[in-house]
Amino acid sequence: MKGIILSGGKGTRLYPMTKGVSKQLLPIYDKPLIYYPLSILILASIRDILIISTPGDIHLYERLLGDGNRLGMKFTYKVQDTPRGLADAFILGEEFIGTDSVCLILGDNVFYGQDMTKMLQQTMQNKTGATIFGYPVKDARNFGVVEFDDDYRVISIEEKPSNPKSNYAVPGLYFYDNRVVQIAKNIQPSPRGEIEITAVNNVYLEMGELHVTLLGRGMAWLDTGTPSNMLKAAQFVEAVQHRQGFYISCIEEIAWRRGFISTRQLINLGKELQMTDYGQYLLSLATEV
Ligand code: G1P
Repeated sequence: MKGIILSGGKGTRLYPMTKGVSKQLLPIYDKPLIYYPLSILILASIRDILIISTPGDIHLYERLLGDGNRLGMKFTYKVQDTPRGLADAFILGEEFIGTDSVCLILGDNVFYGQDMTKMLQQTMQNKTGATIFGYPVKDARNFGVVEFDDDYRVISIEEKPSNPKSNYAVPGLYFYDNRVVQIAKNIQPSPRGEIEITAVNNVYLEMGELHVTLLGRGMAWLDTGTPSNMLKAAQFVEAVQHRQGFYISCIEEIAWRRGFISTRQLINLGKELQMTDYGQYLLSLATEV
């Protein structure tokens, strides 16, 4: 399975913070926002990842993450000239995806929870169709929203409805079989001019091949869309890390635990950052074994 991180957009809701730099490069506490979605792909043992961003920002991602070799992974980069919608990721990524299935994660989505790895493993057992998630939120109007019938069967997914039919929002983490590329190519732009991921999901639903996994309250899916929400997400990360001593979304740690890199490589990565708590954390992991 291949992975795509869509990290484009203007981030206008965060102006002036994002006037000079892409939103997903801003910090959530002690690491760039994109580390959080990247860590989810690594947890899912996906090693081959395409990062899509704007013409002005793509080189910043390349500088931050390189070719992935240091993490025992492979990162490729692709420019999206204009934000044409999330489904554009599969059109831009056609060659990269090849004949594989693909997981798309949005560059600003932060997930954290005990069952994350188990949930990812279960999802990846679905070899055909699409798997998306439903997460309970107080106000679902800004998201894709799942509509259920009385037996909790999914009837439709609506994009940003003014009257949501449930409080289950669809987070920015999607798994598709290879047909997604052709499906994306046939999606017509929505009234806001975007080829919507929700339209892709509704095609799978019509084919009877959309799996919707509902996430429980024990899972955190944090919003990073406003300065206040970014601060809350940062405080959440700080609180958990400070209390437990374990880092959230430490990509080097996860790559090491997944066996992508050796303990020697982990030590080298730690040494480069040893002036920070982050680097010291990496070095402390290496003494664990
Ligand atoms: C996008 C999707 C929406 C989804 C959300 C998750 O919204 O269109 O269905 O619920 O991501 O973050 P957008 O970022 O385009 O507002």
